[in-house]
Amino acid sequence: MRTIPDRDTLARLCLLSNGILKTGSHGTGRVIEYRAAGGTGALYHLELYVVCGDLPDLDAGVYHYGAHDHSLRRLREGDYRATLAEATGAEPSIVEAPAVLVATSTFWRNAWKYQGRAYRHVYWDLGTTLSNLLAVAASSELPAQVVMGFSEAEINRLLGVDGERESAVCLVALGRDSAPIAAAPAVPPLDAPTRPISAREIVFPAITAMHAASSLASGDEAATWRAGRLQRALPEPATDLIPLQPLGAEAIPDAPIEAVIRRRRSTRNYAVDVPAPFAACSTLLERSCQGVAIDCLDPAGGPLSEQYLIANNVEGLAQGTYVLHPGRRALEPLAAGNMRAAAARLASGQSYAADAAVNVYYLADLDPILERYGNRGYRVAQLEAAIFAGKLHLAAHALDLGAVGSTSLDDEAIRFFSPHAAGKSYMFVIVFGARSKRPA
Ligand SMILES: Cc1cc2nc3c(=O)[nH]c(=O)nc-3n(C[C@H](O)[C@H](O)[C@H](O)COP(=O)(O)O)c2cc1C
Repeated sequence: MRTIPDRDTLARLCLLSNGILKTGSHGTGRVIEYRAAGGTGALYHLELYVVCGDLPDLDAGVYHYGAHDHSLRRLREGDYRATLAEATGAEPSIVEAPAVLVATSTFWRNAWKYQGRAYRHVYWDLGTTLSNLLAVAASSELPAQVVMGFSEAEINRLLGVDGERESAVCLVALGRDSAPIAAAPAVPPLDAPTRPISAREIVFPAITAMHAASSLASGDEAATWRAGRLQRALPEPATDLIPLQPLGAEAIPDAPIEAVIRRRRSTRNYAVDVPAPFAACSTLLERSCQGVAIDCLDPAGGPLSEQYLIANNVEGLAQGTYVLHPGRRALEPLAAGNMRAAAARLASGQSYAADAAVNVYYLADLDPILERYGNRGYRVAQLEAAIFAGKLHLAAHALDLGAVGSTSLDDEAIRFFSPHAAGKSYMFVIVFGARSKRPA
């Protein structure tokens, strides 16, 4: 089977995942660029590169995607896919891919504001970007698989990035072609000029140390790392469950994904008194956490994190906290009562969490994940939760609701959902509900 993307498809994927969709102006005269996916602090530290063989209308090469002018610039000429195959330990989706997207993070672009915390923002923001990318690929009927098992040094050398200031953080295999790939040309150093991003840069050693300590040294190591995917034993419910009641396919709006992505924004004003319909809430929860195609995960192996809810205002659902049982398509009630004040406190004092209909916390038991995947498992657990939340964000807009990813007080969130959540770690939170034009 051959599915080969062309230049238009690549352009659509880049634009709708990491591109600039429109510009506007701030009261101060500053130009605001609206990106396709949400990102912490709107700091956009991710870059996309394309590594491809000869495509119908694009020559084989290594390209950088410039979001500022929506263009590909060729960094290397020739087919370098064998270098990717080598660096991933012959990951099958890469070996068969006519084109591969590589995402990098330039850590400083987020760390100047968030310091060492920027490291997990890499995988949060990568998740929101990939949720767009995977949805667009699916709408183009283009096979797409996220690859987290690769040797950083080999990929960074190919892209001409240093691995400390900017490093590859994931690959996405695009399309399928069974034709064998040719041996790759040599990879001489690249010296592409880049514009300075600030007058000076500070290295946050926690970021470089964590990244290096969770890197893989070779393709062989990558192959061993991804083999034997974790099978998560999903916890048994302790009380009677409330079955989800998702919308039937006929009731789901069929807006094209491009329109949904263009409509998506981070919603901070919610209509406090307008309940979210239970059917919409059920649809968002059920549809957003289906298995994601990541090389090291078994799509049927169960999600790495569990979803804990604060329900502030959902039609037919008592106010309180719940945990989702995705396999049983049901919610388990944990505690009843009005938790709006606690929701705002947990979301670092941000009132939108109190005003929105639902807060969804993704919490993971990291022990089995780290045991199986080493400390690279932290990257995967963050990323999977962020992709689920990114899908939920898009789905909320498809159903005419608003949503926003948020920051939270890690340990307090665990205490709040305990004893059920005891021992787990905070991965991500997203809130959603009916939008309002004005602050509540
Ligand atoms: C992981 C994540 C965490 C975020 N945390 C907050 C937050 O704590 N408070 C907030 O107001 N916005 C938060 N945002 C929203 C971003 O500020 C927003 O995505 C960015 O400004 C771009 O705007 P847009 O999403 O409307 O395109 C978060 C977004 C993401 C993806």
